[in-house]
Amino acid sequence: KRILFFKELPSTQDIAHRLLRYGELSGTVVWADRQSSGRGRLGRSWFSPPHRGLYFSFLLKDIPEEDLPRYGLATALGVARALESLVGVPVHLKWPNDILLQGRKLVGILVEAGAGGAVIGIGINVSHRRQELPEEIRKKATSILEATGLKPSRARLLRHILEALEPLYEGLPHERWSEILTEWRQRDITYGARVILVSGGRRHKGVALGPDEEGFLVFKEPLGKLRRLHSGEILLWE
Ligand code: BTN
Repeated sequence: KRILFFKELPSTQDIAHRLLRYGELSGTVVWADRQSSGRGRLGRSWFSPPHRGLYFSFLLKDIPEEDLPRYGLATALGVARALESLVGVPVHLKWPNDILLQGRKLVGILVEAGAGGAVIGIGINVSHRRQELPEEIRKKATSILEATGLKPSRARLLRHILEALEPLYEGLPHERWSEILTEWRQRDITYGARVILVSGGRRHKGVALGPDEEGFLVFKEPLGKLRRLHSGEILLWE
């Protein structure tokens, strides 16, 4: 696979989108040491200072839009497996595709539809120290270094992740999906928890029951009715 490394980019997502439009090979990776306008889900930005994090995107060709949620979930699972094998500590998943370590966010994943395919971006906090994190995420985020004292090389981390993702993607959208879903639910930190969700500007309360076959989040409302969300965020869980 091709890996293109840049010292600095506005966002690795944009370059990967451009490559997708120009017909670049599926799986090509765009990696940057820092991003000046790294972006996250729901219109947020992604804190991307130099040397501290691993920020990369890759393109996948020929993926119908309705399969994207499944790719997002599979990506989170693959990254979780790679991190555990490299760092040796258990990580959890939070719908749709966050990875948490000790209850704090360690990895963010952004899945965007592009020219006939998808661009998937992954941001990992590798060696930020707590006092370097912006105030508004200091309580919610962590880094590998902060949580474990370890500082794995980013190149090695990237390689492990790409190796973990390949077999998962090969089995999508169908063959390996039920296996992915089963492991996902086992690692889901909010499974069975009372949660507060926001979606499309509305708040919902309920008990989270994990992603369903299509990758939507299922939850049970206080009166027992089951509902599903296709996008949004879990704000609180207990
Ligand atoms: C989120 O949790 O909101 C998703 C964050 C995704 C961040 C990564 S960093 C590499 C890639 N480039 C971006 O601009 N964003 C993604």
